[in-house]
Amino acid sequence: MISRIKGTNDIIEDSKIWKWLEEKLKNVALNFGFVETRTPIFEATELFNRSVGNETDIVQKEMYTFEDKGGRSITLRPEGTAPVMRAFIENNLSSKGLPQKLFYCGPMFRYERPQAGRLRQFHQFGVELIGSALPIADAMTILLAIEMLKAIGLDKFKLKINSTGDEKCRPNYVETLKAYYKPFLNDLCDDCKVRYDRNVLRLLDCKKDAKYAENAPKITGYLCDDCKAHFDKLKKYLDEMEIEYEVDPSIVRGLDYYTRTVFEFKYPNLGAQDAIGGGGRYDNLIEELGGSKVPSIGFAFGIERLILALETEKRLPEIEGLDIYVISIDEDQKIEALKIASALSKYFKVDVDVMGRNVKGQFSHASKENTRYTVVIGEEEIKMGLFTLKNMKTGEQWKVKLSEIIKIVSGSGEADTSDA
Ligand code: HAM
Repeated sequence: MISRIKGTNDIIEDSKIWKWLEEKLKNVALNFGFVETRTPIFEATELFNRSVGNETDIVQKEMYTFEDKGGRSITLRPEGTAPVMRAFIENNLSSKGLPQKLFYCGPMFRYERPQAGRLRQFHQFGVELIGSALPIADAMTILLAIEMLKAIGLDKFKLKINSTGDEKCRPNYVETLKAYYKPFLNDLCDDCKVRYDRNVLRLLDCKKDAKYAENAPKITGYLCDDCKAHFDKLKKYLDEMEIEYEVDPSIVRGLDYYTRTVFEFKYPNLGAQDAIGGGGRYDNLIEELGGSKVPSIGFAFGIERLILALETEKRLPEIEGLDIYVISIDEDQKIEALKIASALSKYFKVDVDVMGRNVKGQFSHASKENTRYTVVIGEEEIKMGLFTLKNMKTGEQWKVKLSEIIKIVSGSGEADTSDA
């Protein structure tokens, strides 16, 4: 047998939950005026080198990169922001006016060590608010994320925010941080020894070297006046909206494109992979990718992690079963049953027997599928145009015409059994 690739999942039974979840998230995004965008799942490798950053773990160790038959270096997207910004530039979306509010949902690929909540093919629901440098855009983005979590029934999340400064103040902080870590350099883990030169900010969120991070200088003390004013304004907005948050200077994020605001949502009882979503501002990314300077902000949720959180909270929704199972008494009515099912399928979720089960077998299959109603079709029923409709929950049954079935099952009418 050929097995699936390590770190990937087949979504079969759970696909109804996924559909429910994606619909909920989409509806909140649509109601906030965001538009769906779908970009390819593979891009030129250069796109991620330049945006996510050459020195990040993602680019250094985690990308699925290959050469295609034309000799181009291709990468399966490890995240969605860079592709959406590439599409923004390439399709000249700024000419349509700003802001552009886009969302996306789909698979991402990172060659990480698989564990609970961490996969090599995982799925993100992401949102990008393109075009505003103002803190009100940060507030709107964070509010949108919270509305999404609430819409799916997750309310125990912890919002952590930080500012990573900008090109004016961050270099100074980086030097200060390097000076702080220098005496401990030999004691740091192997990853951090490399990160020290390449991306010293990442030392702050290393779990192995957390004890050094505790006393490290905090970026919030090194922000320039503009970055500080931006961060203060965002905090004021969050306070005014009564959104709870914690300023956590160890939130530095694993992607290089961030400037100023960064944030993460953590969820309790998920173990090590407790970040259900994260995002931040990326004011220079579009320019760095060849567009004009268009400040922007966004975030993405990990769908698998949202589902894990819903499972631990026992908040997975009861997925409804079939509305109607059309039961045929014997072989001669199979096609009639199929025709009636087809007519009813315009309004309801329906099914018919294709396994040759007898009436009892069809009834028990209908119960197993959590069916609300059954309609029984026999020779007599077809002749009379009257069918036995049974409410599978209450056991009530009626002899009714097809039009009555529609009324009763849709809940818009009582059974009219006058000519039954
Ligand atoms: P990220 O923090 O790398 O940000 O990923 C966002 C979310 O995707 C994480 O919080 C997590 O829930 C989920 N995730 C990441 N890696 C994995 C994995 N290996 N397995 C399962 N879930 C995972 C970004 O990707 C940014 N593009 C977000 C963003 C949008 N920033 C601005 N706009």
